[in-house]
Amino acid sequence: MSVLVDERARELFRGVDHVGVGVVDMDAALEWFSASLGFSRVLFDYTGELPGLEELTQRRRTRARVAMLASRFVTSLGPGRIKLVQVLEEDGTPPIPGDAGWGELGICEVCVHARDVAAVHRQLVEARGCTELMAPVSAQVTPFGVDVDLSYVADPGGGKVEVLEWTGLRRALPGEPRLEGVNHVAFGVADMTATREFYGSLGFVHLVLESDGYFEPMRPWYPREMPRQHMILALPGQGAGIEPVRLHPETLDRRGQWGHCGPMEFAIGVSNLDRAYARLREAGVQFHDEPQLVDVGVGEWRYVYFEDPDGLYVSLVEARY
Ligand SMILES: [Fe+2]
Repeated sequence: MSVLVDERARELFRGVDHVGVGVVDMDAALEWFSASLGFSRVLFDYTGELPGLEELTQRRRTRARVAMLASRFVTSLGPGRIKLVQVLEEDGTPPIPGDAGWGELGICEVCVHARDVAAVHRQLVEARGCTELMAPVSAQVTPFGVDVDLSYVADPGGGKVEVLEWTGLRRALPGEPRLEGVNHVAFGVADMTATREFYGSLGFVHLVLESDGYFEPMRPWYPREMPRQHMILALPGQGAGIEPVRLHPETLDRRGQWGHCGPMEFAIGVSNLDRAYARLREAGVQFHDEPQLVDVGVGEWRYVYFEDPDGLYVSLVEARY
């Protein structure tokens, strides 16, 4: 697909607004994301029907409880939100795709920016009892030699939460160790060139890392022979970033059902949903339905799901709450 939108239209797009995480027990999840990750600001907590999902869910209707959460410590490197979703239809929240490894086709992590990864990680594992998926490591990432500290813990549903500090981009403000907002979402793709072009035209243009090799601390995560990982991380001018990954020689389809446990979708913030929808349609992007409006009590939640190059669960969102 060619470049979607011109420079002026890019003003419409505001980076990743939030990452959607499926949960089985909303009350327990709200407590965990608030107490463990610092996402204590509940922007809305809605229970009801979600229109416009018929194509994604293959269901005539989808009822869910949805809570939009913001970190109480939002920064420019941690600007993104987390949306918890508990599916209330008969079968409940679908299970997390099995044998997921990392970087298979689908959403594979939500990454939260931190001040002092080692101290935050220790608090999560020792004081909060979180499951450690990767002990803290420091790296200098290619091609610009940017320093980064990172670690991983599991969310209550077994999803991967990365804790990261871009020490080479900006030293955190002084103070106690803490988690900030979402820095990026990672997802597996089938064609890196197509992904770069597509998301680049939506404003994800500031390349922070590109690597093609084996990130050894992830080796134990793969139930198969470890694939080679080609990954990039691109930040937009505002909002959170994206980290697409192409595994070689083969990527497995681990998109799972919409709403599944763990990180399962993300949304790009727009200043005006109708204009963004019109511009992308003009550029040939397919949508799963018309723009939707849901009254969430404290305001209006507007969204529309679109087809990205890999058929991931991705939406545009205009926050009026
Ligand atoms: Fe990441």
